[in-house]
Amino acid sequence: MPVVLAVNPLSPQADVLAEAARVLQSGGLVAFPTETVYGLGARALDERALARIFEAKGRPTHHPLIAHVEDEARARSLAASWPEAASRLARAFWPGPLTVVVDRARHVPPAIGGGDSSIALRVPAHPVALALLALLGEPIAAPSANRYQGLSPTTAAHVVKELGHRVDLVLDAGPCAAGIESTVIDVRVDPPRVLRLGAADLAALKRIAPGLSARVEVSESTATRASPGMDARHYAPRARMVLALSRDAALALARELLAAEGGPVGLVLREAATASEAAGLDLRVLPNEPREYARRLYGTLHDLDDAGARAIVVQAVPADDEAWWAIADRLERGSTVVR
Ligand code: TXA
Ligand code: MG
Repeated sequence: MPVVLAVNPLSPQADVLAEAARVLQSGGLVAFPTETVYGLGARALDERALARIFEAKGRPTHHPLIAHVEDEARARSLAASWPEAASRLARAFWPGPLTVVVDRARHVPPAIGGGDSSIALRVPAHPVALALLALLGEPIAAPSANRYQGLSPTTAAHVVKELGHRVDLVLDAGPCAAGIESTVIDVRVDPPRVLRLGAADLAALKRIAPGLSARVEVSESTATRASPGMDARHYAPRARMVLALSRDAALALARELLAAEGGPVGLVLREAATASEAAGLDLRVLPNEPREYARRLYGTLHDLDDAGARAIVVQAVPADDEAWWAIADRLERGSTVVR
């Protein structure tokens, strides 16, 4: 098992940060908190360290990584060009849950862009991540700290469960505030284009980047992808996850699966159910509000996996309200069937 060090989320202890920087400098992997999810960090300019990330995640090497930086100036130093839209978005959203994709500077290893000519960059809004970046003085590449296609971790315990000894050190600062990954925007095109919906507020993004194209298709084929995180299957619990369009359909389907499978069946609703309606089911009711829902979603799915659920039925979220779109996207990618 990895070494886990507790760290104060608001004012991280100097000795803990120094130990994390030491592990990174020696080419190791450090899982650290961000405001979205926990990241699996390594020195972004060190090809061997990047290779260790791909190996630890079991992730194909053509899937690019986000470079985390402490400010816009550092971001620009890793880019071959810095479009006007990048400046505007960076000023409005950094530090924060927004990742921009730009052309990569020549001195940056191609591996970080998955072999493509681009690089994804973000300044995370978490005191621990920012303090670690400042102390290290160089960018940190960090995908979410989970195995390939699995659920992102929102606590240090999730990281340990998912990656075990594959990570050298885990910084534990408690649960992440947003609970869902950053929004990824390609600013090499005009107007900019959303590659992955996420924690940044879409309405606010559109105000800063007028004309922003936000239609993200779930693609069955990696050949047609613009961003590998757009693969159809991603963000999935171990249990088979099934989406149902209403509370009543979810209850009916969960009872049907319980009768068929016998094993534990999880049910995730946005509206209450009575004890008799949910008899025999592992019921979790999440808040019917997108930010609170996002904060708790992955933790709930991790819990149901840990409880041994064979199947998890989830009540779908409102498709007509863009505040729910990022969540709808993750639920669709994580599930096998929609009923
Ligand atoms: O919130 C987050 O973004 C978290 C925290 C740790 O920062 N990180 C994260 O990384 O979710 P990861 O690797 O799990 O997802 C990165 C997403 C993927 O969808 C990937 O395809 C996309 O960003 N991406 C990264 N670099 C890219 C690039 N050069 N071009 C296009 N898409 C890119
Ligand atoms: Mg990920």
